Amino acid sequence: MCGIVGAVSARNIVPVLLEGLTQLEYRGYDSAGMAVIDGGLKRLRSAGRVSALAALAGENNLNGNIGIAHTRWATHGAPSERNAHPHVSGGIAVVHNGIIENHQAIRTRLISRGYEFTSDTDSEVIAHLIHARLEHGDDLVGAVRATVSELEGAYAIAVLRDSDPHRMVVARMGVPLLLGVGAGENFAASDASALLQVTRNMIYLQDGDVAEITVRDLHISDAHGKPVERAVHVSEMSADAVGLGPYQHFMQKEIFEQPGAVANTLEMVVNAQSLSPELFGVGASAVLSKVDSVLILACGTSYHAGVVARYWIEAIAGIPCNVEIASEYRYRDPVPNPRALVVTISQSGETADTLAALELAKSLGHEFRLAICNVAESALVRASDLRFLTRAGPEIGVASTKAFTTQLTALVLLTLVLAKQRGRISTDRERTLLEAMRHLPAALSHVLLVEPLVKKWAGRFAKSEHALFLGRGIHYPIAMEGALKLKEISYVHAEAYPAGELKHGPLALVDRDMPVVAIAPGDALIEKLKSNMQEVRARGGELYVLADQNAHIEPSEGMHVIELPDHAGILSPILHTIPLQLLAYHAALVRGNDVDKPRNLAKSVTVE
Ligand code: M6R
Repeated sequence: MCGIVGAVSARNIVPVLLEGLTQLEYRGYDSAGMAVIDGGLKRLRSAGRVSALAALAGENNLNGNIGIAHTRWATHGAPSERNAHPHVSGGIAVVHNGIIENHQAIRTRLISRGYEFTSDTDSEVIAHLIHARLEHGDDLVGAVRATVSELEGAYAIAVLRDSDPHRMVVARMGVPLLLGVGAGENFAASDASALLQVTRNMIYLQDGDVAEITVRDLHISDAHGKPVERAVHVSEMSADAVGLGPYQHFMQKEIFEQPGAVANTLEMVVNAQSLSPELFGVGASAVLSKVDSVLILACGTSYHAGVVARYWIEAIAGIPCNVEIASEYRYRDPVPNPRALVVTISQSGETADTLAALELAKSLGHEFRLAICNVAESALVRASDLRFLTRAGPEIGVASTKAFTTQLTALVLLTLVLAKQRGRISTDRERTLLEAMRHLPAALSHVLLVEPLVKKWAGRFAKSEHALFLGRGIHYPIAMEGALKLKEISYVHAEAYPAGELKHGPLALVDRDMPVVAIAPGDALIEKLKSNMQEVRARGGELYVLADQNAHIEPSEGMHVIELPDHAGILSPILHTIPLQLLAYHAALVRGNDVDKPRNLAKSVTVE
């Protein structure tokens, strides 16, 4: 879960590497480093952000026509300069994203051969292995290929050799790596956003590929060492999409992009009178009509989207739906139902646990697999037969926002398609629901207007060490999402409970120091929720209620109420998410936290 960039050019590539790393900081930001060849190998590393590395590069007047760079999210070894990449061995420098699972055995072997280790990382073995192969007489490409054949785990690497100053070699397995094709210069990076500054022409490497990159040429060979041509894709990602524009933070930008992101995700149904299963890929109609249940696998916020979907799928489509945290499912011995539709949900499509859960499902004989994902070229999409691409655009803030609401949008569509195929909704009902979906972007824009009111609450939450989030029914997972947002960026300990569960334990926590958020839609459970809210008030707990107009909840002492402007029926969970995102954002700002890059986290969790 790190970002790598490499460049070969006739010009000084240091600014390109630094800009690339800045774009990739969402992947990890606890230390950074780069190596260039300029009359010899020069390496600079620093703990902290890319900006610290940029300052160091300036002070050292770093220059070069060929270089590799890395921004790190620590897995093996603390975030420190000595553990920052590139790692070197003799004249070899290597940057690595991924995890080498057999690094300990390799390390022991290399130490017995006289290699000295200067870091605590798993990655350093790669540099020494390549060095050993070169000593053995291999050329750089041969040494890289021989090295990766010994590695177990996942990697994207870029390698330089000081005595071969015109060539960079890269390889990938299990984590993303692409090449950027420029005019008289070539590049490599973990994702396209790092290279938009120099080119839109991208080649997505496949697992097992090794590529040799010079100013003029790109030579790619596959896992068997056979030369291959990989298609050049013209990236449609706009530089604006990865820039801040008028916003202060990516999270803020992404919260406010939600009406547009949802509208884009709905583009294919905008003019439709009815829904087609083929929205989920060619052949979806046949597959979806065969399935008798749904199994959703995902992590974090994407998991919460899955939990919301369970309520929709069971209530509207009338088929059983299970939702599992991917990191748990992958190590269980689940009893597979081959007629279940396995739905993986992921913003990045690179989350290691979700990919492994999908692999397990496959190995257990699950044939029907659908990915709901925001990244078209991701491993998850490639590994799934059916797919629905959410069109949120690049999500850069570590806290997932627009990915969540677009995932929910996709999951409503899936519910309706399943329901329709099973004769569970009439044509009229389908039309009404489609109409409500078309109104969703406007409804989201209205809800965003509550920001000033939510901002007033944020100070209270920023001062608190704990918070409770309550919801009932389909709004319970929304409470879970609200609590996750608050903890991950404000570091306030937050827990979500189904409000009916309060009296079974968590009520003991409630006193005047515990702010309690209640999600109060005007649905069938509202009177039950009101009783639960009274239980909180009776213990001196202060309530912060996000209510629909028809919930009829009046503010009073200890009871703060924000009324949401639109009532969206089954889409209500989507609208209720927005104030919770805003609450977390503003609480984190009051606390002075780095909202886009919260401590200890990274955007894409491509390692276990
Ligand atoms: O890319 P994915 O949707 O698979 O990521 C899953 C989680 O890592 C992610 O949702 C994480 O929980 C977010 N930081 C939450 O805001």
